[in-house]
Amino acid sequence: MKIEILQPKNQVDIEKYYDLRWRILREPWKQPRGSEKDPLEDESIHLMACMNKKIVAVGRLHLNSGVEAQIRYMAVELDFQNRGIGTLLLRELEKIAKNKGAHHMILYGRDAALQFYQKNGYKILNKAHTIFGSIEHWKMRKDLI
Ligand SMILES: CC(C)(COP(=O)(O)OP(=O)(O)OC[C@H]1O[C@@H](n2cnc3c(N)ncnc32)[C@H](O)[C@@H]1OP(=O)(O)O)[C@@H](O)C(=O)NCCC(=O)NCCS
Repeated sequence: MKIEILQPKNQVDIEKYYDLRWRILREPWKQPRGSEKDPLEDESIHLMACMNKKIVAVGRLHLNSGVEAQIRYMAVELDFQNRGIGTLLLRELEKIAKNKGAHHMILYGRDAALQFYQKNGYKILNKAHTIFGSIEHWKMRKDLI
């Protein structure tokens, strides 16, 4: 299985990128298209994992300050979960953050993703918000240096 980690460059990629984000992170909770985006899209770094040209996972990085980076919207296509693709994408986002000078990463992990992040070195800081009335989030942090 050869996975390529790329940035979406053209309109087709960008549409598929947001479509995957929406289908995995919003559609199951009946959230409308558009709800998968926030005001930081233009200033963020977007990565997608591709297998035979098909986008199978997506994730986003932005900087909160000179030293703090944040990952949002990690989503792996259902049939491709638990095969190490999320880990590959996470590592690449961490590498980029480090190259940009970030000292640590934060994220708000869903209950269902906590083990995934913990296996990748993230520690729980505190319980955070709940979205769509049911999905609890936990603030997590990992030192990058
Ligand atoms: C969470 C997610 C991004 C992880 O990506 P992935 O490609 O499935 O994860 P990986 O295969 O790289 O997993 C690495 C490890 O975490 C474990 N893991 C992954 N998802 C898990 C889960 N939901 N529960 C428990 N363990 C999990 C795997 O078993 C694996 O452990 P191992 O290396 O000991 O076998 C992906 O499953 C996903 O998109 N889930 C639905 C959307 C979501 O919750 N996104 C996160 C929003 S905060």
